[in-house]
Amino acid sequence: MNISATNNLDAFWMPFTANRQFKKNPRMFVSADRMHYTTSDGRQVMDATAGLWCVNAGHNRPKIVEAIRQQAGELDYAPAFQMGHPKAFELASKLVAMSPTGLDHVMFTNSGSESVETALKTAIAYHRAKGDGSRFRLIGRERGYHGVNFGGISVGGIVPNRKMFGTLLTGVDHLPHTHDLKRNAYTRGIPEHGAELADELERIIGLHDASTIAAVIVEPVAGSTGVLVPPKGYLQKLRNICDKHGILLIFDEVITGYGRLGAPFAADYFGVVPDIMITAKGLTNGVIPMGAVFVKNEIHDAFMTGPEHVIEFFHGYTYSGNPMASAAGLATIETYQEEGLLTRGAELAGYFEDGLHSLKGLPHVIDIRNIGLVGAVELEPVAGEPTRRAFQAFLDAYDKGLLIRTTGDIIALSPPLIVEKADIDFIIDTLGGVLKTLD
Ligand SMILES: Cc1ncc(COP(=O)(O)O)c(C=O)c1O
Repeated sequence: MNISATNNLDAFWMPFTANRQFKKNPRMFVSADRMHYTTSDGRQVMDATAGLWCVNAGHNRPKIVEAIRQQAGELDYAPAFQMGHPKAFELASKLVAMSPTGLDHVMFTNSGSESVETALKTAIAYHRAKGDGSRFRLIGRERGYHGVNFGGISVGGIVPNRKMFGTLLTGVDHLPHTHDLKRNAYTRGIPEHGAELADELERIIGLHDASTIAAVIVEPVAGSTGVLVPPKGYLQKLRNICDKHGILLIFDEVITGYGRLGAPFAADYFGVVPDIMITAKGLTNGVIPMGAVFVKNEIHDAFMTGPEHVIEFFHGYTYSGNPMASAAGLATIETYQEEGLLTRGAELAGYFEDGLHSLKGLPHVIDIRNIGLVGAVELEPVAGEPTRRAFQAFLDAYDKGLLIRTTGDIIALSPPLIVEKADIDFIIDTLGGVLKTLD
């Protein structure tokens, strides 16, 4: 199929894409099933990235497809404000039942970015609702990714995502990132060194005073910056420092949620429960946009005061918990549970790890890291041309039938949780072939 003859590629300004490069040589998917995409020129491409870290149950799953079909014909939309429909409540209850203890309430959104804004606003408003309105500061982390809205890029720490957009939110500070190639390169699983980086939070608190700080937000495993696994003990330290100072701890589990690490959530994996947990992506298997923000009882309850006819929290979206997304979410959770996908990563993590680390020693590789079913291969950048080498690897892999994701000069892998050992072999062999011939 000649795409450019049938479509004008000009009108669509594509997100996070090298538009001019793409439009000269488009890469189009036209269908997908389980582990594979089909391209517009009829090739099969293995999805080693679960779409954008979201298609955790693989593509074209019957239960999810059927649920959406049925829902569209039954109740297409119901107002999200002052009205309800049963499936949103059912989904929220199921999510609470599978989430770490204490996270007993859920607010729905349409994306990870919206979930982040929801969490940040909730944290600030919670302190105010308790009569502690001086707690307004938000502490993020260098190299953090929390979506693309103003709150998210303010607490985030990826420079190109921030530098074009003016003053951002005020009252934000950042922890140092935890990436330490010198001490931790080629770590299998959780790095040994760097827990002391959490103590930087004490320094930041010393600078601003705890009484001005509302929340700390981190990704338990930083994904979009290139899969940075937290050092041993680091998250527990953050938890302890936040508790000591009355600061809320927010985990952004948009990538780590719904089985990516081999446990339902990273909070389960690390045994550290946040006060607010942000999710999206895998919630609906990526099929219909949806996010869910989990909050502790005491946060929810702090708002449930005043006259009962008055709205308690002035926040929400037209599509919060909309019927189609709720139906997709319910069918997704059922699929995960029926197939044991939320813990399947734990069974395959060792095989995936061995495969990934077998790439050590190939040209330009300077680090390999992994946890659960997510991993990264970091490449030495071409001098003076950052991102060029990894982007070339992405293009070569695509030509060889493999979808990988790159960020800077890091290759990230996060296959659907239905991945089989033979699929892992294909991913590793193909990526190895790409790396061997990379300039
Ligand atoms: C940790 C994290 N937070 C937030 C987001 C933003 O999600 P969305 O693109 O759905 O807005 C992402 C997306 O990759 C993410 O990885």
